Amino acid sequence: MPLTPTEKIWMDGELVDWADAKVHVLTHTMHYGSGVFEGIRAYPTSRGVSVFRLRDHIKRLFSSAKVFMIDIPYTVDQLVDAARTVVRVNELVDGCYVRPLVYLGYGEMGLNPMPCPVNVSIAAWPWGTYLGDEGVANGVRVKISSWRRHDPNAVPTAAKGTGMYVNSSLAKVEAVKAGYDEAILLAPDGNVSECTGENLFIVDHGRLITPHTSDAGALWGITQQSVEAIAHDLGYAVSHEQLIRSDLYTADEAFLTGTAAEIVPIRAVDDRLVGDGRPGPITKRLQETYFSAVRGEVDQYKDWLDHVD
Ligand SMILES: Cc1ncc(COP(=O)(O)O)c(C=O)c1O
Repeated sequence: MPLTPTEKIWMDGELVDWADAKVHVLTHTMHYGSGVFEGIRAYPTSRGVSVFRLRDHIKRLFSSAKVFMIDIPYTVDQLVDAARTVVRVNELVDGCYVRPLVYLGYGEMGLNPMPCPVNVSIAAWPWGTYLGDEGVANGVRVKISSWRRHDPNAVPTAAKGTGMYVNSSLAKVEAVKAGYDEAILLAPDGNVSECTGENLFIVDHGRLITPHTSDAGALWGITQQSVEAIAHDLGYAVSHEQLIRSDLYTADEAFLTGTAAEIVPIRAVDDRLVGDGRPGPITKRLQETYFSAVRGEVDQYKDWLDHVD
């Protein structure tokens, strides 16, 4: 999806013009994928624009950095404030996507990243539905990828490390070229892991099942956690279990969750319709509640909102 430039990007404490937010070609992270990042969304609410679970995302950024032994030269509070500032100064009142990035900068080369300077940027821009409005409304067609998810002992799948996303890109390209909307990756042991940038759930006889994130080598998604909380509150049982690919073919409903994608029904897996190929009632109920929660329309979930003004 093409980027819509906004006015300013926060770079190491300064607000820089969008067009000037550049780095040197010898930036360490460009060569070795040695950064960590987050993806966050802000939504319009009756009290103005609000960032969804901002502090949880910034905390996960620090946790990813810890795994890679990167010392972020700011506190959680400072980056929460910086993210809010970026949304405010760019007047993104209708909501936006926010992308904090911690990268190892210019000045050192080679595979020992420890002497590198640590830089931080936060950009924000208006971003529509990641998998398309049609996907959100009627569901997407997904393919089990021929690429496996990372072995967590090869790269730490609990972290959002920039270089790790070549795996997601390989799977996405394969799926799109084959005519699908998204890919599902299996873990090295053959169990279902996650999508390229989303977690997934199935509904089986009224019960929600999502792969156990650490066993499956998947990121523990903040949207996944929000959906679990909403599902519990609506009275649905949720469990983390191992899933195999045929569980996806025989599920009553299936959907994926992620900050960028939000909640998207899966209408077919490997050309087998999920249920009758239309978004199921539980998926729709969770989707509706989630979209109301992020817009501040459900009192119970107001703690998840971080107002910008
Ligand atoms: C690989 C991967 N899995 C799952 C997710 C979903 O996580 P969240 O709901 O926190 O955005 C993301 C997005 O950050 C991701 O990149």
